[in-house]
Amino acid sequence: MFERLNAPKQDPILGLTLAIMADQRSDKMDLGIGVYRNAEGATPIMAAVRQAQREQAENQTTKSYIGLAGNETFNSALIDLLLADTAAHSRAAGIQTPGASGALRMLAELIKSARPDATVWISNPSYVNHRPVMEAAGLKVADYTYFDVATKQVNEAAMLDQIATLGEQDVLLLHGCCHNPTGADISLQAWQRIAELAEQQGFLPFVDIAYQGFGDGLMEDAAGLRLLADRLPELIIATSCSKNFGLYRERTGAAIVVGHTLEESLKAKGRILEVARGSYTMPPDHGAALVAAILGRDDLKTLWMDELTVMNQRINHLRAELVRQFRDRSDSDRFDYFGEHRGMFSVTGLGNEHIDALRVEHGIYMVGGGRMNVAGLAERDIPRLVDCFLAVGA
Ligand SMILES: Cc1ncc(COP(=O)(O)O)c(C=O)c1O
Repeated sequence: MFERLNAPKQDPILGLTLAIMADQRSDKMDLGIGVYRNAEGATPIMAAVRQAQREQAENQTTKSYIGLAGNETFNSALIDLLLADTAAHSRAAGIQTPGASGALRMLAELIKSARPDATVWISNPSYVNHRPVMEAAGLKVADYTYFDVATKQVNEAAMLDQIATLGEQDVLLLHGCCHNPTGADISLQAWQRIAELAEQQGFLPFVDIAYQGFGDGLMEDAAGLRLLADRLPELIIATSCSKNFGLYRERTGAAIVVGHTLEESLKAKGRILEVARGSYTMPPDHGAALVAAILGRDDLKTLWMDELTVMNQRINHLRAELVRQFRDRSDSDRFDYFGEHRGMFSVTGLGNEHIDALRVEHGIYMVGGGRMNVAGLAERDIPRLVDCFLAVGA
């Protein structure tokens, strides 16, 4: 049966992981894999998660099934985290999914059911899985202008001009904050303009927010999304607890639907649950149970928010140090973009020849396209990183 299958393409991130493991140099730097690392280079279990986990191990009495939508306390808590006090809050329905990846796929299936001919517009560039996940649901995918490699910023004027041409058959996929891969986010004015255009033109905004709390803070990072939620009749959201709760492997996320009325949102939720029944049926419980426990108790929530703030400050401190040391050593301000970007990543604009030279000559690993995981850096490595960038002609 399987003899006619083509050999699978190697996953680029997996290939990078294997190459890093095989590299014997003690000063190698992994700036490829998209995980947060602390100053010691570890991706630790957060203290609030550890405590919730301990309590769960002692108190949980059953592993019986929960239900297609997963943990409803978790679903409500994530709706609160993103939409509390917005006009959309009372109309929102949530479904626990296996990570934001699961949410992206479930929402893609929802779009396919509701608007089979829809085109999903993704930023150029975008998160590497956006296109394949949307296409796997049978949707058309097109790019909108986003990153300007010369300025390392978003070309908002060109982006908004293009968005102004979208209509009712279109879905606009936006990154809530901390754009992956570029690190360049849109301004609040651009979010405002997108809300006006969505009202005028009738396209559906689809916000993927995978890094809430990694940019400028929990509320600040959701400001654009909340602005849309206050104004628009319809909105869909994919959200993740992989990064901000450090629950990567526990596959914890949610799909949130906001319709004209709660009744409509619940109909959409029901449609997603039918699709889920036809695939994984129910999401894994562990991560969602921990998040529900943390967000449901003041002491655990405070512990979590404090640690998230420390992580956020570390990333922004590394960004400030990159700017300072690049300025000192390059005698130019051309690396200031590190300080303007937000979240874990920055697209450096380095070509393949630079990326290859950094890997081969210096043991510095980044993914193709020049994305650097700033959140994977150790502060003590910044002087060498800067020297190596300049040595390869960056
Ligand atoms: C923009 C974006 N969306 C979704 C995801 C998927 O996250 P999860 O691990 O929750 O599936 C990621 C992960 O890197 C991401 O960067």
